[in-house]
Amino acid sequence: MNYTLNINGQSHTVDAAPDTPMLWVLRDHLDLVGVKYGCGQGVCGACTVHVDGAAQRSCQLPVSAVGDKKIVTIEGLDPHGAHPVQQAWSATDVSQCGYCQSGQIMSAAALLKDKPHPTDADIDDAMAGNLCRCGTYLRIRQAIHAAAGK
Ligand code: FES
Ligand code: FES
Repeated sequence: MNYTLNINGQSHTVDAAPDTPMLWVLRDHLDLVGVKYGCGQGVCGACTVHVDGAAQRSCQLPVSAVGDKKIVTIEGLDPHGAHPVQQAWSATDVSQCGYCQSGQIMSAAALLKDKPHPTDADIDDAMAGNLCRCGTYLRIRQAIHAAAGK
């Protein structure tokens, strides 16, 4: 079936089975490979994108459920990769292997949009669903504080 999707501010038409997770539509149909496959079960957060501004697991979102909702991936967060969260991530040297980091950044950006000055507890709560096997959690928290209010 054909679906016309709003992704990173542009209209894209893809031909996919209705139950295809958006994770694979983004990666395989549109070559937006910043979004990562981790668990495929909604528990690791590596596949996080924004759907109408909220952080959502793209592995759990079938293409048929998207409709006219606006999807933003890490590629569309800022045209120059200079979103305050991305800048804070770089300045804080958050990443290790990097695999989980686009999902972490998308969750952090959604958090700061809703709560421009989050507490440690707010951060831990919002980021609890984003796992990092390299254990970068403390630097993630530092970077979110550094980006707060910007
Ligand atoms: S791949 Fe989607 S939550 Fe893990
Ligand atoms: S930086 Fe390696 S999994 Fe998070």
